[in-house]
Amino acid sequence: MSATVSRSPGALAVAAVQGISPYVIGKPISELTRELGVTDIVKLASNENPLGPSPLALAAAQAALADTLLYPDGNGFDLKDALARHHGISTSQVTLGNGSNDLLILLAEAFLDATRNAVMSQYAFAIYGLVVQATGATAKVTAALPTWSAMPNGHDLQAMLAAIDTDTRLVFIANPNNPTGSWVDDASLRHFLDAVPDTTLVVLDEAYFEYARRMGCTDGSTLLSRHPNLVVLRTFSKAHALAGLRVGYALSHPDVANMLNRVRAPFNVTIPALAAAQAALTDTEQAPRAVAMVEAGLAQLQAALPQLGVRLFPSAGNFVLADVAVDGRTGQQVYEALLRHGVIVRPVGGYGLPRCVRITIGTIEQNQRVIAALQHCLTSKA
Ligand SMILES: Cc1ncc(COP(=O)(O)O)c(C=O)c1O
Repeated sequence: MSATVSRSPGALAVAAVQGISPYVIGKPISELTRELGVTDIVKLASNENPLGPSPLALAAAQAALADTLLYPDGNGFDLKDALARHHGISTSQVTLGNGSNDLLILLAEAFLDATRNAVMSQYAFAIYGLVVQATGATAKVTAALPTWSAMPNGHDLQAMLAAIDTDTRLVFIANPNNPTGSWVDDASLRHFLDAVPDTTLVVLDEAYFEYARRMGCTDGSTLLSRHPNLVVLRTFSKAHALAGLRVGYALSHPDVANMLNRVRAPFNVTIPALAAAQAALTDTEQAPRAVAMVEAGLAQLQAALPQLGVRLFPSAGNFVLADVAVDGRTGQQVYEALLRHGVIVRPVGGYGLPRCVRITIGTIEQNQRVIAALQHCLTSKA
C-alpha cells in the first residue's frame, strides 16, 4: 500500500453520483435520545402509520421466517398473482420492488442515460431528482403552482407538458405529492395523459393512494389499458404500515415490466415481505382504519394550528405541510425546538420550503403532543 494517499477513493465515483446530495431521512427516535437525552418521543417525520400492520400480515411474516434459509421466489409469483387479481390486470404487468423507491431507481436505470431527460415539478418527492441524477440524465424541473392558487405548491401539469421534448423519457407525477400534500384532479390527469407523447413514460406515484381516495384522486390502475406509456407505483409502506419490510410494486404495460425486470436484482423482495404483503391484501379493514384516523387527525390539526398562526396546506396524504414561519422563525428552527419537546417532524428547507415543516398525521394523542409542543415553541420567545 502506498504511504501517501493523494486523492479520496470517493473521487473515483462517476461525476453524476459525485454531484448528488444525499437524501435526508426523518430523524430516528434512537438518534434523538442519543443526541439530546430525550425520551418519550413522538415521531411524525416519515409518514408511517402508527396503527401498525394487519395482524394477518404480521402472522404471515412470522410464519415465513421459517423459510429464510431459502432465497425468496425471485419472480414473486404468488404476490404478483394476488396483485394482478386485486387490480384486474395481468401478472405480466406487475413488477415488485424493495419498496416503491426501488422501482423509481429501476425506472431511471432502464429508461434514462446522459442523452435523455426527465420532467418533474418543483417540490416533487426528492427521490425523483436523485434517481435521475445518478443516471447522468437531466432533470427538467417546472415551477410549482403558486401558494395562492387552488392547489398551493402543486404540480403545474400544463407547464410539465410544455417541458416534455423528444428526449424526455420519464415524467413524474406524485398523486398526492410528498411533502406538499398536493394532488391532481381526475379530469386534469386524464387530459395530461391524453396529451403526453408516446415517447415519454408517465410515472404516476400513488404511494398514498388509500388516503387520497377520499379527495377523489384517480385510481391510475384503471387507466393502464388506455395508456401503454403509464406506470403506476404503489407501496405497502404507507396505509398498510409495512414500511420496515420494504415492498412496493409497479403496474405497467408488460413490455415496460419486462425492461424493469432486466435491471431488477433477482431477489429484491424478501420472503417475509412477500408473505406479509399478500396477507395485507386480504385484510380489507386495516387500511380504512388508518384512513379514518388521518381524517380525524387532520381535522384536529386544522382546528388547533391556525390559531397559533400556522398555515396548513391542503393534503391528500397522511401528512400535512405546515407554514410555521410565525414571527420570522424558519421551519428548521421550529423543527429543532420541537425536538427538545420529544416531537420529531420533518424540516423541508432542502425542498426549498424554508418556512415549513411536514407533519405526519398520527393518533389523536400523538397529534395532541405536536399541538402542545408547537403552542409552546411558537408562543415563547426562545
Ligand atoms: C411520494 C412517495 N413515493 C414513494 C415513496 C417510497 O416509499 P417506499 O419505498 O417505502 O415504498 C415515498 C416514501 O416516503 C413517497 O413519499
